Amino acid sequence: MKSGFFAILSVLLSTSTLAYSSTNEEISNLDFYSNGGGMHLSPGILNKLEFIRAVIDGTKADDHVLHTLAHRWGIQENKDELIGIKTVRDKKLNVGVVGCVACHSGKAAGQYIIGIGNKNIDPGQIGMDGVTIETDFKKFTDLLAATHLQKKSAHYRNVEDSSIKLMHKLADPRLSASTQGLVPVSLVGSWFYEIANDPIPNHGFKGAVKVPTWFGFNKKLEVGQFSDAIGKGHPPGWIVGVEITAGQKPEVVRSYFSKVEHANDLIGALKPPKYPFAINVTRANRGKLVFENTCAKCHGTYEYDSSGDPIYKVPKMIPLERVGTDSDRLDYVTEDFLEHVRSSPLSDLIQLSEYAGKRMYVAPRLHAIWARFPYLHNGSVPTLRDMLEPASKRPTLFSLAEAGEYKRFDQKRGGLTMPDNAATLLSLIQDESEHRRWVYDTSLKGQSNQGHEKFTDLSDTVKDDIVEYLKTL
Ligand code: HEC
Ligand code: HEC
Repeated sequence: MKSGFFAILSVLLSTSTLAYSSTNEEISNLDFYSNGGGMHLSPGILNKLEFIRAVIDGTKADDHVLHTLAHRWGIQENKDELIGIKTVRDKKLNVGVVGCVACHSGKAAGQYIIGIGNKNIDPGQIGMDGVTIETDFKKFTDLLAATHLQKKSAHYRNVEDSSIKLMHKLADPRLSASTQGLVPVSLVGSWFYEIANDPIPNHGFKGAVKVPTWFGFNKKLEVGQFSDAIGKGHPPGWIVGVEITAGQKPEVVRSYFSKVEHANDLIGALKPPKYPFAINVTRANRGKLVFENTCAKCHGTYEYDSSGDPIYKVPKMIPLERVGTDSDRLDYVTEDFLEHVRSSPLSDLIQLSEYAGKRMYVAPRLHAIWARFPYLHNGSVPTLRDMLEPASKRPTLFSLAEAGEYKRFDQKRGGLTMPDNAATLLSLIQDESEHRRWVYDTSLKGQSNQGHEKFTDLSDTVKDDIVEYLKTL
């Protein structure tokens, strides 16, 4: 133990907060932490993580631990800041809160974009690490409390309890994905069972999905929310999905509902970023013609107003048997689950749409589709070009490591780079054999890359033209 006892004390009692400089955008700051509940960590833990490490192994206390952990958890960084992680002052406590942009913003081709999904977010890993870290931290702070060095108020204990409970939930094998970048909807779903005092189903369906885009969300609401449009858009209660995952109380959700409605408007106003590289206009124009004769019957056409902003439209719903993609997400929505949603104490705010249980997927509108890889609701197809090949020709293994960085962007195929030499291929195979969470393996349950094979017999040139057009959206 290198650090003196008083050093420990002073850091533990300090009120310093994690540096989180606001981007001035309301959305970056959006979270619904309230009354000690919502997506959060144990009080004080965020600015003590480095310090705990220093106490444990005698290394110099610096920023490192937090950033290493954040990387492991898929939290993105922008100019040294952890995106979506911030400290909120709550009745004299510093609480580390997970905001919406932890999942709903990310990088593509090295650009940071609000409104696309975080390609690396890993709730399962957060849960597994979190259980250990939070439990150890509790022991440590209990010791301080026992010696009257730092008291724990009843409020402190509540916040601490709910954060440890959240970590256990994220780590629950029934509710966690095997791969980063995927968030199981069973996490949200479990709340409906817990609130009814019923056991969480163990049918093996988790409904793990990539975090979807927010562009055009207002129009999307007209069919419903999520990849199967299960959620009715008005009133916008499903927006608090992750908050109820974290065990937020129904009456608290009610108390801040005007804030939820405001968030809904903010999300609806987002605009998609333009493709950052050169586009071959001749090819794109040819691609547009093919797209409008083939893809448009499901994905619609794209128009822009006088200032060049997209005119958002309502997406179409496609039955599973027509699109043929992985069914796990729809299988999660059992009749029993729907019944639990209908009878929840928030059933007036969290309602089902007419598509609930109909086994259909939304054919997403394709704004900024260049940035939304890997593709399909379960993120199983690494590039746009692979979307146009039959499933048998799509990659079955790919790496999500640093998926949003410039070096991982394949401009030609539109999406993730694949190994291009024996060494990188070998390391991918090695990572797969060690079950590294950044390896996407399409043979895992819920991660199949099947389906969406409508126009795979087009010529290579035509397919390249379509990809070129997709970059313009
Ligand atoms: C742990 C990651 C995570 C966090 C944090 C998170 N979300 Fe989500 N969100 C998701 C996932 C995953 C889905 C898609 C579920 C599906 O399609 O089945 C989603 C879907 C949505 C949708 C619907 C989009 C659509 O296309 O229908 C909205 C709106 C939304 N979230 C808002 C929010 C808000 C507001 C917050 C902050 C309070 C938030 N989310 C926090 C993961 C997250
Ligand atoms: C029969 C309707 C239909 C047709 C035709 C169709 N798609 Fe799709 N497309 C869908 C559906 C449904 C999904 C979502 C499936 C899922 O996520 O499981 C989808 C998903 C996609 C995605 C991934 C979106 C994302 O957010 O990951 C892309 C890209 C795409 N389609 C491009 C095309 C192109 C290009 C064509 C024409 C060559 C085309 N689609 C033709 C129905 C269709």
